[in-house]
Amino acid sequence: MYGGRSSERDISIASGTAVLNAFKKLSVNVCGIDVDRNVAEKIKKEKIDIAYVALHGRFGEDGTIQGMLEILGVPYTGCGVFACSASMNKDTSKKLFQYENILTPEWKTLKKFEVLPEVKKYPVVVKPVSQGSTIGVTIVKKTSQFTDAVREAFKYDKEMILEQFIRGKEITVNVLYGNALPVIEIVPKGEFYDFKSKYQEGCSKHIIPAGISNKAYKTAQNYAEKIYKVFKCKAISRVDMIVDNGDNVWVLENNTIPGMTITSLLPDAAKAVGYDFESLVLKIVESAL
Ligand SMILES: Nc1ncnc2c1ncn2[C@@H]1O[C@H](COP(=O)(O)OP(=O)(O)O)[C@@H](O)[C@H]1O
Ligand SMILES: [Mg+2]
Repeated sequence: MYGGRSSERDISIASGTAVLNAFKKLSVNVCGIDVDRNVAEKIKKEKIDIAYVALHGRFGEDGTIQGMLEILGVPYTGCGVFACSASMNKDTSKKLFQYENILTPEWKTLKKFEVLPEVKKYPVVVKPVSQGSTIGVTIVKKTSQFTDAVREAFKYDKEMILEQFIRGKEITVNVLYGNALPVIEIVPKGEFYDFKSKYQEGCSKHIIPAGISNKAYKTAQNYAEKIYKVFKCKAISRVDMIVDNGDNVWVLENNTIPGMTITSLLPDAAKAVGYDFESLVLKIVESAL
């Protein structure tokens, strides 16, 4: 299942196409289902045994498609309704991180049309509460950029968060069935890990294992495994973090359906522990059996 109606549709098509090709290589009887309003009919017509969910963003990574599959009684890969919906909401996620003593940048959540607070210290990060792929995210450096950033974030959601900016190395930790994979350090070509850096070949570099202290490395893996448990993830999850100059590890967010495109992070981390793309896909399928 791929495509869908979210603003990450194109990325989902890339992930889904890569997964489809892997299945074809493995001679698995497979069909691609683009998730539109007729998805339930399509699923019934194709008489599928299991659904591989390769969707990102709204209606795919937020628990809604998982809920529909539960109702239809179709086994599906990866995280369930709770893990997806809790992770998709950055405000709820951050509250859970705090409760579990996981360091996360300070933030304030704002609803559309609410009065904006005065920002005392720049830069500050503005992002939609429920989005992915850095869509709608701005690192605001001065007052004059603030309202445009807020407008951009509200294009994608009715709520946004205003978050403390953390300067440091960007890392991500994938978790496979509860176990953290090697930590990846991300070096974007541009200023931060924006949409282009994420998906255009050559626009970011992945360093495995990340060039951080042993202490930060362990903390990052522990955080990721803890988040996998607390959010009740299944099969896979990927936690985005930043390590600052004081060696503190800050958690930004949890992703329940990490990208599977050629520039994606999960396939790279899995490769480092011996999974080629096809074996990773099969490993994920186990969660639906
Ligand atoms: N608090 C922050 N401090 C510094 N950079 C940030 C912060 N929040 C987000 N970013 C940058 O924006 C990117 C996207 O933010 P993230 O919270 O991971 O949302 P998304 O769901 O869009 O991936 C991050 O990978 C990072 O490069
Ligand atoms: Mg992210």
